[in-house]
Amino acid sequence: MRARRALLYMPGDDRHKIEKALTLDVDCICMDMEDGVALNRKTEARRIIATALRELTFGRSEKLARINAVGSGLEMEDIGVVLPSRPDGIVVPKAESLEQIQWVSGKIEAAELAHGWPVNSIRMLVGVETAKAILNLKEIASHPRLDGLIFGGEDYAASVGAVRTPEAMELLYARSAVVTAAAAFGLQAIDMVTINFQDLETLRREAAFGAQLGYTGKQVIHPAQVGPVQEAFTPNDESIENARRLLEAFGAHQKDGKGAFALDGKMIDMPLVKAAQGVLERARAAGKWQTDFSPQN
Ligand code: COA
Ligand code: MG
Repeated sequence: MRARRALLYMPGDDRHKIEKALTLDVDCICMDMEDGVALNRKTEARRIIATALRELTFGRSEKLARINAVGSGLEMEDIGVVLPSRPDGIVVPKAESLEQIQWVSGKIEAAELAHGWPVNSIRMLVGVETAKAILNLKEIASHPRLDGLIFGGEDYAASVGAVRTPEAMELLYARSAVVTAAAAFGLQAIDMVTINFQDLETLRREAAFGAQLGYTGKQVIHPAQVGPVQEAFTPNDESIENARRLLEAFGAHQKDGKGAFALDGKMIDMPLVKAAQGVLERARAAGKWQTDFSPQN
């Protein structure tokens, strides 16, 4: 799966910000039709996104379009206008049931068939940002067109009546539930936005904590947030080297018939081997690691 360390939103009716995003070397560019766009600008946003998808060169950045929630009454036109311009994926906010995911996927499949594009080539990422979504996570996450779950922290807090604090302890249950569901279904998990976009210290702290929880990326809303977030979700040289050494030692001990062994004063067995493989997998997705290194070779 492609790396989605930073997912940058911009209002879909702002062509300048879309063009700006192309200069940022960001993993994902998500042109928004939902909450970043005023109600009286939705039509304009659809038109500008469709045109941008056709006219602009996105390079290595993934082209995503975020529609309005299924049931909002806006979703049908959102998806109908942007799909013919072939985005790489559709972001579905405030998903609450499998039926909603199936509805969007059905629309995408119809467009794929109509245009002769490979079925399932347009991917879906789903916003989990309400209490109901957390209750229905297992069903929502099971859909085969999904590549990732996106945790909407502010919307979730509003949905349960939580009071937001800098430590975000009030979000921990839902934030962890999203990572767990994503891991269970082999999906990426994309963490909440740090809305105070001028405070890069808070951004780095929140990104590091998200990575500790198991998130693979984070939503961002401003160019200044892209670099720090992509860095936070890329394994550093030291952890790549540690993972490499661990797998090398594991391979040697397996040959000697030893499952558990000691390395640098720590007991190493299967869970740590899997974690090390995960580190190299993320390094590879970020273009920092080329060699195929499985413990067998
Ligand atoms: N994507 C691309 N470019 C962006 C951007 C974004 N999300 N946010 C700001 N920029 C651009 C600005 O247009 C400006 O470009 P310029 O120097 O060529 O004029 C430059 O980056 C600096 O922007 P700045 O002046 O610091 O911010 P701002 O006051 O223009 O915008 C926000 C602040 C919050 C309104 C803006 O960052 C934004 O729209 N973010 C995305 C909001 C969104 O999509 N929300 C819904 C999803 S949660
Ligand atoms: Mg939201």
